[in-house]
Amino acid sequence: METSLQLKPANPRTTSVPNDLDAFWLPFTPNRAFKRAPRFITRAKDMHYFTPDGRAVLDGLAGLWCTNAGHNRDPIVAAIKREAEELDYAPAFQFAHPKSFELASRVAALAPADLNRVFFCNSGSEAVDTALKIALAYHGVRGESARTRLIGRERGYHGVGFGGISVGGIVNNRKLFGTLLAGVDHLPATYNREHQAFTKGEPEWGAHLADELERIVALHDASTIAAVIVEPMAGSTGVLPPPKGYLQRLRAICDKHGILLIFDEVITGFGRLGHAFAAERYCVTPDLLCFAKGVTSGAVPMGGVIARDSVYEAFMRGPEHVIELFHGYTYSAHPLACAAGLAALDLYRDEGLFERAKKLEQVIAEAAMTLKGVPNVLDVRAVGVAVGIDLASRPGAVGKRAYEVMEHAFHDEDLLVRVSGDTLAIAPPLIVTEAQLAEMFEKTARAIRAVA
Ligand SMILES: Cc1ncc(COP(=O)(O)O)c(C=O)c1O
Repeated sequence: METSLQLKPANPRTTSVPNDLDAFWLPFTPNRAFKRAPRFITRAKDMHYFTPDGRAVLDGLAGLWCTNAGHNRDPIVAAIKREAEELDYAPAFQFAHPKSFELASRVAALAPADLNRVFFCNSGSEAVDTALKIALAYHGVRGESARTRLIGRERGYHGVGFGGISVGGIVNNRKLFGTLLAGVDHLPATYNREHQAFTKGEPEWGAHLADELERIVALHDASTIAAVIVEPMAGSTGVLPPPKGYLQRLRAICDKHGILLIFDEVITGFGRLGHAFAAERYCVTPDLLCFAKGVTSGAVPMGGVIARDSVYEAFMRGPEHVIELFHGYTYSAHPLACAAGLAALDLYRDEGLFERAKKLEQVIAEAAMTLKGVPNVLDVRAVGVAVGIDLASRPGAVGKRAYEVMEHAFHDEDLLVRVSGDTLAIAPPLIVTEAQLAEMFEKTARAIRAVA
């Protein structure tokens, strides 16, 4: 194929860029558009990415909602190097290395109440599939095997495994992939622009939407329902904070009917909403909590599920030589991921990054709301260190305007933002300064205007 890419690294410290773009099929990317005008990143430090020609690009999305401690932090880099020299790999089936236990204890200590048992995997998608499987098996081992139904939510994003897309509610992620899991229902999305536009934090309107769970229970009977899974704050679909009281209501209905509640905290975990987990912010304890991304500050792939004691204990029965849960991954608790995770958690603690996120919440919300009135901005939502900006779609071309804003921001404003449909997301590393936040929204406003 022909490519317009003729870049040579101007800076000898940068990695050379590939000159053949054919082989790599990029995920969640319009490949032809990208290969016509690629956006290369070759280096990163703290709040910035660097392009092959040496431009510093302000990272408005913590990579992909994951580098919460900032990029290439020395303690994390050093921990990964040390571990690679000491223990490249150890199986987690029937054997273990000490750092896996240490990290599990540290993660459990950050989670509220009796969320004390940690199952490791390698991504958010795997975390979701793991949680759904644990929920089904939990009812099975307790003699309630009729509880097979799973309830997700419209607009939910739970990764790309078949479990995740089945309970997820993003049409394009589902429509070409067959019949998906059977026995899945969806709660309605919690967003309503008429009632919620330009809200800072959790909207007042919408708690009643949790009652839809009662309707689903009435339809199928509680004895057939295993679990409900929601993102406490729906991130990927465009930053939808939960209406005030909504999660508490979901919890109460689940309790009433013996249904497990799963929080998918792949984005909200590790400080994004000013707490270790959103469960703490909302004072709601789920039965299973999925995490990934921020656990290693994005440096090594890792995910996991935290289960309440009661869930774990339900499996600890039968002969002791028999495996209790037939599930796991070759790379569960990989030594490099555990080392990176421990170093990331140290950084979060030592630099008070979750508390910092809490303090920044008002600042980012105010900076974000300056976009109100910019042409084509329909709504801005801000919660924790996360902002969603809805743009008016171009007639007949949903997603084109936001894509153009993202391209313009990267090439002309040296800013990385994320797009999903015609929604922009901004969620920088938690080390972001107030000045950088102001800069981010000024750049975003200029980019939106530039493509108007
Ligand atoms: C809430 C949520 N769950 C699951 C995932 C999937 O994570 P991964 O891409 O690591 O599989 C994501 C990714 O953004 C997410 O936001």
